[in-house]
Amino acid sequence: MSQKVRGVVAPGKGAPVRLETILVGDPGPGEALVRVQACGVCHTDLHYRQGGINDEFPFLLGHEAAGVVEAVGPDVRDLEPGDFVILNWRAVCGRCRACRRGRPWYCFDTHNAAQKMTLADGTPLSPALGIGAFAEKTLVAAGQCTKVDPTASAAVAGLLGCGVMAGFGAALNTGNVSRGDSVAVIGCGGVGNAAVAGARLAGAAKIIAVDIDDRKLTWARGLGATHTINARRHDVVEAVREATGGFGADVVIEAVGRPETYEQAFYSRDLAGTVVLVGVPTPDMRLDLPLLDVFGRGGALKSSWYGDCLPERDFPMLIDLYLQGRLDLDAFVSETITLDGIEEAFARMERGEVLRSVVLL
Ligand SMILES: NC(=O)c1ccc[n+]([C@@H]2O[C@H](COP(=O)([O-])OP(=O)(O)OC[C@H]3O[C@@H](n4cnc5c(N)ncnc54)[C@H](O)[C@@H]3O)[C@@H](O)[C@H]2O)c1
Ligand SMILES: [Zn+2]
Ligand SMILES: [Zn+2]
Repeated sequence: MSQKVRGVVAPGKGAPVRLETILVGDPGPGEALVRVQACGVCHTDLHYRQGGINDEFPFLLGHEAAGVVEAVGPDVRDLEPGDFVILNWRAVCGRCRACRRGRPWYCFDTHNAAQKMTLADGTPLSPALGIGAFAEKTLVAAGQCTKVDPTASAAVAGLLGCGVMAGFGAALNTGNVSRGDSVAVIGCGGVGNAAVAGARLAGAAKIIAVDIDDRKLTWARGLGATHTINARRHDVVEAVREATGGFGADVVIEAVGRPETYEQAFYSRDLAGTVVLVGVPTPDMRLDLPLLDVFGRGGALKSSWYGDCLPERDFPMLIDLYLQGRLDLDAFVSETITLDGIEEAFARMERGEVLRSVVLL
């Protein structure tokens, strides 16, 4: 039996989102039905709406969510109705080559629900990142549900489902930031500012936040930035070098996803430093760098999918740090909104007014 719920759908390339009735089936084998309590608005949702990810419209947007399990499929163990969970978009398989080599964060065969949610007329929906949580209920693979301490609020917990985990993990897992390092973060939205918070937790000595918007830089200060640079007023590469005794940063995290900011990241790092690309580019973007500089500067150029996280390891740990007062996740919730406020939230995101708008359901 499918249930009718309300959900936010992106109907076609660049078109405004619509609040629609959607049909959600009972969980089959390996699946779970989750009553969504909160879902953050991530820039990747806007990328989907713009057709920047792929053309599989209509999309059911939303992927940064927490909620309560309502029902599970017949064979599902370790998860039961009533569990408080964060939804993750990389439920690792345990069997592919990456998993078998002990690198499950690169899993090539991550799971989503097998059944499709649909519009009322039966049109199948593509859930954003295999989640689709701007909806009262969503159907996911059971492995996409990670149990965490239910004393954390859903608004805060949901943030770990994407942007905050991606930024935090870009610093700690991908960039291996450690104590004493100098770190620069280019683009301080929800993702970049989570990288700032992660760098502080790891003991970085200098944390240089770069953005084109002073509000973002003020938030970055609050989360641990020791230096801030407005890229509209300063040359980023020169300013990062100046803040690091002329050297450049040990780790530079690019959290915008554009060739020009990537190039700044590339030249802002010290010799043998690390660049981490966590911002998501669009298919039309190209990079033109002298190959001799790629060689001559040494070090590592990495990208970070989901902060190279393991949800089962990282979500409960970050919630524990939050509950102990060591990670200020509340600072990321700029406002709470309802399901009919997504378009306005995209506009506020584009105007730089928020770190995260979080839909409460
Ligand atoms: N790798 C992953 O797993 C992952 C996960 C979530 C999001 N993302 C991506 O990370 C990026 C950031 O996401 P977000 O939700 O924080 O978005 P956001 O819009 O909140 O933040 C982007 C920030 O970049 C700043 N910016 C824009 N142009 C700039 C420039 N030229 N120089 C410096 N700063 C600039 C903006 O002012 C803004 O503060 C997006 O590309 C998103 O798709 C990646
Ligand atoms: Zn795998
Ligand atoms: Zn996201």
